[in-house]
Amino acid sequence: MTADSSIQPRSANPLLRALGGETVHPAPVWLMRQAGRYLPEYRALRESVPDFLTACYTPDVAAEITLQPVRRFGLDAAILFSDILVVPDGLGQEVRFEAGEGPVLEAIRPSDVAKLSLARMNAHLTPVVETVTQVKAALDDRTALIGFAGAPWTLAAYMVEGGGSKDFAAARAWAAQDSAGFGHLIDLLTQAVVDLLRRQIEAGAEAVQLFDSWAGVLSAEAFRRWCVAPAKAIVAALGDSHPGVPVIGFPRGAGFLLAHYAEATGCAGLQLDHGVPLDEAAALQRSVTVQGNLDPVLLLVGGEAMTRQILAIRAALGQGAHVFNLGHGVLPPTPPEHVAQLVETVRRADRKDAA
Ligand code: CP3
Repeated sequence: MTADSSIQPRSANPLLRALGGETVHPAPVWLMRQAGRYLPEYRALRESVPDFLTACYTPDVAAEITLQPVRRFGLDAAILFSDILVVPDGLGQEVRFEAGEGPVLEAIRPSDVAKLSLARMNAHLTPVVETVTQVKAALDDRTALIGFAGAPWTLAAYMVEGGGSKDFAAARAWAAQDSAGFGHLIDLLTQAVVDLLRRQIEAGAEAVQLFDSWAGVLSAEAFRRWCVAPAKAIVAALGDSHPGVPVIGFPRGAGFLLAHYAEATGCAGLQLDHGVPLDEAAALQRSVTVQGNLDPVLLLVGGEAMTRQILAIRAALGQGAHVFNLGHGVLPPTPPEHVAQLVETVRRADRKDAA
């Protein structure tokens, strides 16, 4: 029914078509954190391994976890089950996940940067790449496989802080006081992300997402330097080695600077958090495929409130290239039935459109 039915599809997969700039009906749908604790089958499998990182580093387990939500809900994409913090862990800054507490790292100081090793990381992350190979072999070509990495700033923020934080003041202070030294860390992480994403693509990832979850704590100047510039370098490096593989940028909380981020980095897709108004999202959509942006709390509560907002999002973004997603990850107490309702509502919304 769409005006662009004359365009030769680049792929059988709706997600890849949308990332290529096509208006696709019904909109492709997947969810950040679609695998995880809200699924009983995830909790059961997690019990077979001693801790979260072991799950990430055990390809049979990680591949099965990746496939669980795809099987249950018929989503348009699988996202590799791993974590952004496997990069510092591989570089030699050990990461632990304490139950109920989130990630814990030994905070690095400027003098520690020289001890981090790309060669060590590349050896350490071979099981993550093997997971991609296994998932790819299990998927049909209707379902896209998305790889990912944390963006350099967000990785550095956890590495300098030694864990989560509400404002990452220690990392921002280092960047402000010693931008050359901090720049060395960002450059190393940029190379680490390029290496990891290239290997994921070679193993079968068809699109990759760059998670800059803490972009929103930076000043405009710091955002340009520590988020936009590295993302631009990563998009360019992947474009050289693997042209045509779309990169989805997620500078969470970037607000006024979203259009600048999209334009300057050249990302094919822009993941929007739920703070982005739908009219702004529609304006951004004129130059980039937008992904998002249902508030995860609406998925948690489900029902009419969720349905209404799904329809509002599709009404605002249905005339252009859009990938349906949340504005941030699925919350652990979310009932799985609400995810089924979301997928059905997105697909039904467009059947009504078409009629
Ligand atoms: O989206 C997916 O389904 C793929 C897997 C994935 C995970 N983490 C699994 C995970 C992805 C893409 C991530 C990204 C990630 N990890 C980000 C960026 C996105 C975001 O949420 O902003 C960040 C900042 C992290 C770091 C991280 N990992 C934190 C802060 C935590 C603890 C908080 C929490 O939710 O428990 C994790 C742990 C984590 N990563 C879990 C999962 C399924 C829960 C661990 C468990 O099973 O106990």
